[in-house]
Amino acid sequence: MAESVTFDLTDPQLKLDPYPLFKTLRENDPMHFSPLGFWVATRYDDVRAVLMDRTNFGQGDFIQNIRLFYGPDFDVLAHSAYRWLSEIFLYQDPPRHTRVRGLVTLALTARRVMEMRPRVQAIADRLLGAVVDQGGMEVIHQFAYRFPTLVMCDMLGLSPEEASDEVLAALNQAIADSFVVFEMRAFSPEELVLANRQMDFLQDFFGKVFAARRLDPRDDLATDLCNARDEHGPLTDHEMATVAIGLFGAGFETTAHMIGNGLLSLARFPDQWDKLVANPALAVSATEEILRFESSLVGTNRTAFRDTEVGGKTVRAGERILTLVAAGNRDPEMFDEPDRFDIERSGPRHLSFGGGIHFCVGAELARLEGEIALTALVERLPGLKIDLETAQWRQEGFMFRGLTRLDASW
Ligand code: HEM
Repeated sequence: MAESVTFDLTDPQLKLDPYPLFKTLRENDPMHFSPLGFWVATRYDDVRAVLMDRTNFGQGDFIQNIRLFYGPDFDVLAHSAYRWLSEIFLYQDPPRHTRVRGLVTLALTARRVMEMRPRVQAIADRLLGAVVDQGGMEVIHQFAYRFPTLVMCDMLGLSPEEASDEVLAALNQAIADSFVVFEMRAFSPEELVLANRQMDFLQDFFGKVFAARRLDPRDDLATDLCNARDEHGPLTDHEMATVAIGLFGAGFETTAHMIGNGLLSLARFPDQWDKLVANPALAVSATEEILRFESSLVGTNRTAFRDTEVGGKTVRAGERILTLVAAGNRDPEMFDEPDRFDIERSGPRHLSFGGGIHFCVGAELARLEGEIALTALVERLPGLKIDLETAQWRQEGFMFRGLTRLDASW
């Protein structure tokens, strides 16, 4: 008889290792209805089916979703933080989503990513060059976070003067704020005041950056955003700032965790690290395996537009569904020995970049960063030893899986 399972988002074990619970759910109740009031999908096919299905599933009405927390009279858009979140295209359905995504995709082309390669390489070399003689570092803060932060600044074209500590701190705060919606909760009154203040500051900051690029265009994404237009015309300054802050947010923490989770996995499977040192060209497939094995984004969610069958269960119109990409990535129906970390694995694609109309627009950049970070690490620090005892998983939230500390020596 199937084991009965409860899915408790606050269970501390989920932060340490969610995979045993994901396995139990997948095997016993793959379309689980949580007492918290939403569905939880864990099989690869079900997760993929929901993400690919733009007819029956989507983000739903942002304002209504927020009013569920505060009541029907809450003026959502009067708060800069919620206004910003409401305009992030990840949280929108077509046609609004289509327009902004289309313009961003035009600006974040494969060519731009390819052209970034030497600069991304230079950033990795500079960061590792600064620590190579120290004999050790705390990897998460000294490398995993700094690397994508600098890459994101480079991508947007923010000079070191523009990307001041104050701006980076505000961007970090905005990113933390966006998790609030992702985690399906509301801001506390204090958080909302702070989030509004930071958002006003960032809108003002990016407004000045765009004004400067209009006067003095450069070969950067900030300039591309100013020039991007479709049949409806250009993006407004407000939309452009939303995109810039959103891209920074989407591309920074996820990538930092990919690097941290990757180093941890390579340390837990030392034969795989040795393989990579012997053949750094494996960094490309190693990046894919890291994304599959320890996805930095555990899941995402959708709302059903109409009654829809998924994995033999009916999700009713208006119900939410949490699609656990990390659980799908370990589904034995798709991956041979899914709990084995194998940097030479080939076969089906993982789900870590999502799927369908919201498929990650930064996937190519994230892959490039993974490849360059791993190659630089094995080439510059082949004797790297990770102290597994120091690994600490982030405690806040559930959707992002990443480390807050990991010590290394060489
Ligand atoms: C390891 C790194 C990354 C992971 C695991 C990741 C994962 C994801 C996932 C799963 C989604 C879809 C979410 C959903 O369907 O609800 C997504 C969307 C998105 N990602 Fe990434 N991402 C990464 C890096 C990046 C980077 C580097 C950028 C920007 C340069 C970026 C920008 C975006 C944007 C803008 C979206 C929204 C797309 C849309 O709604 O159409 N991501 N990402």
